[in-house]
Amino acid sequence: MDYKFYLDSLLKYLAEGILIVDKDANVVFYNEPVTDLAGISMDEAFGKNILDLFTDLTPETSTFYRVLKSQKAMIDHIQTYTNRKGRTVNILTSTIPLIRDGELVGALEVYRDLTQVKELSERIFELQGSIYNKTGQGKPAKGNGTRYTFDDIIAESEVMKSTIARARKIAASGSPLLVYGETGTGKEIFIQAIHNADPVRRKNIFIAQNCAALPKGLLESILFGTTEGSFTGARERQGLFELADGGTLLLDEINSMDIELQGKLLRILEDGVVRRIGGTRTTTVDVRTIASTNEDPARAVDQGKLREDLYYRLNVVTLVLPPLREHPEDIPPLVNHFIAKYNRRMRKNVKGVSGEVMNLFMKYPWYGNVRELMYTIESIMNEIEVDEIQLNHLPPSILAAEAKADPDKHSTRGTENLPSMRQALHELECDLIKRAIRAANGNRARAARLLDIPKQTLHNKIKKYKITWDTVTGKEVPN
Ligand SMILES: Nc1ncnc2c1ncn2[C@@H]1O[C@H](COP(=O)(O)OP(=O)(O)OP(=O)(O)O)[C@@H](O)[C@H]1O
Ligand SMILES: [Mg+2]
Repeated sequence: MDYKFYLDSLLKYLAEGILIVDKDANVVFYNEPVTDLAGISMDEAFGKNILDLFTDLTPETSTFYRVLKSQKAMIDHIQTYTNRKGRTVNILTSTIPLIRDGELVGALEVYRDLTQVKELSERIFELQGSIYNKTGQGKPAKGNGTRYTFDDIIAESEVMKSTIARARKIAASGSPLLVYGETGTGKEIFIQAIHNADPVRRKNIFIAQNCAALPKGLLESILFGTTEGSFTGARERQGLFELADGGTLLLDEINSMDIELQGKLLRILEDGVVRRIGGTRTTTVDVRTIASTNEDPARAVDQGKLREDLYYRLNVVTLVLPPLREHPEDIPPLVNHFIAKYNRRMRKNVKGVSGEVMNLFMKYPWYGNVRELMYTIESIMNEIEVDEIQLNHLPPSILAAEAKADPDKHSTRGTENLPSMRQALHELECDLIKRAIRAANGNRARAARLLDIPKQTLHNKIKKYKITWDTVTGKEVPN
């Protein structure tokens, strides 16, 4: 096999930049994306020392120098610099020592261009900062970064009523809190309600940060802030802990946070003191930290995704939200609530669902929970022209669930109208995928988990059926 050809093609079309130096930090290899990132032509770079190419760097700050010295890999390190063409680039690098027969021969660095991700997250950060001023004086509820209070939560079943009663008590305590529930069970709506039920905190801000969306280094600088002039090129900026002083900080999907960062988080929870990255000064903050996870936290600890000591700190108070299939009594009031909501939004006048539909809804497992129910109603109401939702308005996947539960029901259909098995399976598959994408709010990894298939399989099927976010929801792709 012509490995060299394959390898050359791979390196050429890879989006990541790859740079290799010898043991004296002279460039011996790099691929095309590096020319873009570094603003250096191939000829210029070859054989040069890394410090001559990146003149801002010193042996102390260069990742290559550090790795060649320590012979230990540096993974996911964030760097910001101005390249030779004057472009400010934010890159995520992983630098690995190359050791052959026990001897150090050089180092390899893989770059990912983070400029766009970083610009977006900085814009969000600045917008958050301008919406809520730091001291957060006297902002009324719902002018504080939240949309929900306990009054917005539909709960008629005993289990949900007692969950609300518990959440109200928890609101008063101010302790760190861990909220666990499957996707779409209402974790965020509950957490916002808890913030708004605290008479003091509700006047201050509520900030939610998803821990799965950002690479470790970026998340760390967003949480803790940065000091100016550190070699990462960072500006002097407060982190979310400082920004949320007096209020609540929600760390969503805590089980995706890097383990080392979880250790730093634990220290803040214990003593309430934050130190900006690269800085020496510490600040004491009064932030209620709420973490949420859609994975059983005890299992996440077993699997090494959640630090045990952090778990014990957070687990002092835990709120568990049950999956919708465990409290189907709430389905009728939720259905009516969402119909009313979309009637207002779409200027329609749908009165309700037929008895058969409601029966089916009560039996259906709703793996995407309340969010899936909400999107199902929304999608039906987009199309409907009569004033009652009937069986024929339902997506095939929900009907299929009924056929499975009651196989005789559809057996009287004329055989001549039967679709081919392949066509029927394709329709079902396509529909399931759309619903999972909707339930996962466009997050493919989560959609794959909902369907219990590998991400790559989902990706292939999305391509095969030409499914796009707007064919699923009629809206633009969320950020
Ligand atoms: N009991 C409820 N009453 C009314 N609306 C609800 C209820 N539970 C959830 N919702 C609505 O369902 C949607 C999903 O809820 P939410 O975002 O709180 O879920 P989540 O548990 O945070 O999900 P994920 O893990 O996917 O982030 C939201 O639009 C929310 O307003
Ligand atoms: Mg959520």
